[in-house]
Amino acid sequence: MKGLILSGGQGTRLRPITHTSAKQLVPIANRPILFYVIDDLAAAGIRDVGIVISPETGEDIRAAVGDGSAFGVSVTWIVQPEPKGLAHAVLCARPFLGDDSFAMYLGDNMLEQHLEPFLVGFPGADQLDPTGPVVNARILLAHVADPTSFGVAELGADGEVLRLVEKPSDPPSDLALVGVYLFDSSIHPAIDRLVPSARGELEITDAIQQMIDSGCRVDHQVVSGWWIDTGKKDPLLECNRLVLNRLEKRIDGEVDAASTIGDRVVVEAGAQVINSVVEGPAVIGPDSLISDAQLGPYCSVGAGSRIERSRVENSVLLAGVTVVNVGHLTDSLIGRNSEISGDGSTTGRFRILIGDTCQVDVSEAEHG
Ligand code: G1P
Repeated sequence: MKGLILSGGQGTRLRPITHTSAKQLVPIANRPILFYVIDDLAAAGIRDVGIVISPETGEDIRAAVGDGSAFGVSVTWIVQPEPKGLAHAVLCARPFLGDDSFAMYLGDNMLEQHLEPFLVGFPGADQLDPTGPVVNARILLAHVADPTSFGVAELGADGEVLRLVEKPSDPPSDLALVGVYLFDSSIHPAIDRLVPSARGELEITDAIQQMIDSGCRVDHQVVSGWWIDTGKKDPLLECNRLVLNRLEKRIDGEVDAASTIGDRVVVEAGAQVINSVVEGPAVIGPDSLISDAQLGPYCSVGAGSRIERSRVENSVLLAGVTVVNVGHLTDSLIGRNSEISGDGSTTGRFRILIGDTCQVDVSEAEHG
């Protein structure tokens, strides 16, 4: 069985971060989202992994992942020239996939459960029971409060998948398609029969419906634990909180005697914490400086960042971020090498979403 990770797309819902960086490289607890996906495939024993990239952000992704050996997989790079949909990405990957079964994983989705239990009993992934039914595709579903922004499944009385609709205005159930799928080679002729959807894309949801219509068997599992499509700021911060909750305390950097460090805090090598309070869970990246500050809970601070005379809570700061004299920064996502500063009297509470190399001055403007 092969793995196929879809890492193209424009990440419009995470702009401006995604103007200059791929959404799959936005860090959760200081590791790109995509790395967790590759780990999950590797842990399930899948070694041959294709990663679909776009011409715009593909080079950054290649540079971050390398040849895959750091993850124990071998990576084949597949360029999708235009963002024409998930099924179009599979079409682009056809030379890599051949006739093999594959697990397809959207590179911005994160699950609490591992991939492995999802593979059990699927052709090509497991020893099959020869008397059991043939399964051509398997989908993973999650109960969600608002199904209208997802693909949605309608199940029959015995749990078979009857119908799938992409982003329905009148959803047939509350069961959303999670971005993880298993396919055998019968997905390919189904994709060949597709026409573009209302949003102009070849939808994988429509391709699975084509499989059902042509008599293929599609089964499902309901996800256990949390699932997050990290494509927007608030779900991304929620995902950061969930992953930080798993941290174990580790102090490789320097912490002075005037500072207090709580449980589930990681201070990476080269980082310095001076006269500060760090409430876990939180991770402080290598070579960062936290000085006269209050950090946490739920902060990820990228490498080489500097936080001084400020309070930062429930936020993701990418590498090289500076936060100085900012009263209270919360629920924020700050791009690489950006700087937020106030004057000594700034006391407000700020929620900020900015991209790379931005400058924000939160000091009170003088009236002229
Ligand atoms: C895509 C799929 C949708 C699925 C979702 C999961 O949506 O089209 O069926 O529920 O991923 O994250 P998109 O992110 O392209 O809007």
